[in-house]
Amino acid sequence: MDYKHYIAQKIKIDSVSEEEIADLIALPPNSEMGDYALPCFRFTKVLRKSPVLIAEELKNAFPTDNVISEVSAVNGYLNFKINKTGLAKAVLDKILIDGERYGSSDIGSGKTICIDYSSVNIAKPFHIGHLSTTVIGGALYKIYKFLGYNVVGINHLGDYGTQFGKLICAYKRWGDREEVQKGGIHAINDLYVRFNNEADEAMESEAREYFRLIESGDKEANELFEWFKELTLDYVKEIYKKLNITFDSYAGERFYTDKMQPVIDELKEKNLLVESEGAQIVDLEAYDMPPCLILRSDGASLYATRDLAAACYRKKTYDFYKCLYVVAYQQNLHFKQVFKVLELMGKEWAKDLVHVAYGMVSLEDGAMSTRKGKVVWLEDVIKKCVEKAYAIINEKNPDLPDKEATANTVGLGAVIFGALYNNKIKDITFSYDKVLSFDGETSVYVQYTCARANSVLSKCDEVVSLPDGYEPNIEEAEVIKTLASFPETVLDASVKYEPSYVARYAVELAQKFNKFYIECKILTAEGDAKNFRLCLTKATLYVLQNALALLGIGTPEKM
Ligand code: ARG
Repeated sequence: MDYKHYIAQKIKIDSVSEEEIADLIALPPNSEMGDYALPCFRFTKVLRKSPVLIAEELKNAFPTDNVISEVSAVNGYLNFKINKTGLAKAVLDKILIDGERYGSSDIGSGKTICIDYSSVNIAKPFHIGHLSTTVIGGALYKIYKFLGYNVVGINHLGDYGTQFGKLICAYKRWGDREEVQKGGIHAINDLYVRFNNEADEAMESEAREYFRLIESGDKEANELFEWFKELTLDYVKEIYKKLNITFDSYAGERFYTDKMQPVIDELKEKNLLVESEGAQIVDLEAYDMPPCLILRSDGASLYATRDLAAACYRKKTYDFYKCLYVVAYQQNLHFKQVFKVLELMGKEWAKDLVHVAYGMVSLEDGAMSTRKGKVVWLEDVIKKCVEKAYAIINEKNPDLPDKEATANTVGLGAVIFGALYNNKIKDITFSYDKVLSFDGETSVYVQYTCARANSVLSKCDEVVSLPDGYEPNIEEAEVIKTLASFPETVLDASVKYEPSYVARYAVELAQKFNKFYIECKILTAEGDAKNFRLCLTKATLYVLQNALALLGIGTPEKM
């Protein structure tokens, strides 16, 4: 149930919409005052009265009912008290019926959202820097699906560029088919690094020739390129599987090779293309941006050229409602330029393109950080997290059956949650101890709470039904209120492109539940209290599992 809208719809103020009122409604600093509060300062302009008077009048006009049982006006604020008995019954009933669908909606039905995320580079390391785009994009994918959108996950592969000429050159000189096949992406990367360390002018020119051969459709060069691509994708797909990540399209930069010319023609036609030092650019000085480079002086296309073609292709193919690019903030300018050029081309849908920018991830563990070109592979971070999770679980609960599977779920959850917990634009320092803490703001803590709820439920074999008219105590009411706000949280996360809202929500719900668990007897309670508490436990378990699932994280039954 969405209480903010429930309240807002009962308040009528000329020229102020229900939506605006709902947006203003907040949680009061202490719950003694009420469960929700509406500050009336914003209405002084339209109503030409003092906030105190406005609050007083709105209070008198407000129709209380069995959901909102009390309204008071204090210092220009309108405070609302929710009828806890009615709320508890309504929320628990809904969750127990809806189960894992609780919080879902069809708000997105008929709308398509494209999400460009992870977007790995062929033959380059899949490193810790790709963690955020992969898990933020993956979570948004699930959140939008949950809200009824048609979602298209796109891995805009970095599979275009002169580096592939270098790679072929290096392979021809030093490579061995079997070794590369076996070593996969690591072997390819070694060849590439070696080229960069050792290549002389002759090799550089050879590499340029190989790149030209790929471009001109030469069979051997293309076969080698496709092989490198396949080895890279086989490798990253293993990691995607672990992280619960899926894509609907792997159309990378190369896919747009033959789709750029029409865009260039259109730019010309619309008089947007100008020559500058032999290159073709779109001048963006009027918008305080450096020019967007379209063609280099040698006629080669650029990253931006391919993104222009990709945006047009996606609009034509998917007719998206929105197209998101989950890419690090280092590319802010790039996307501003691309979006502006599309706008100048008269694409009214340019307003539907969104750069979902995120901050950098670095490792606390200095020994593993990027040094001398040594990169931290995501694979190693995952491995280390799972190993550490195993050690912790083994120490805490040595008799746990299936320790390995549990460590996997816990370790992977920690990697994902660690990258998702903070507001996405923040730079974060990844610390193994922090993400694996049992009592921090972690997925481990949430998973442990689920195991606790599971254990309670497994000890009760009676059929429980939700009692009528049960008045919850403070701890129970807090859990109920949090449960009630799950749908709103998911919606907010989708509007702000912020999976962290769901992550924070899960921690908050787990904290409230644990407080209840410590303060209130469950299995040894009697009558209505016992039934109510068991229902509350079950509902909390559903919602916690569900919140984690939206982030791509599983929940072990026992821990
Ligand atoms: N492969 C690029 C990189 O690693 C990211 C691509 C993002 N998507 C896009 N449409 N430009 O920097």
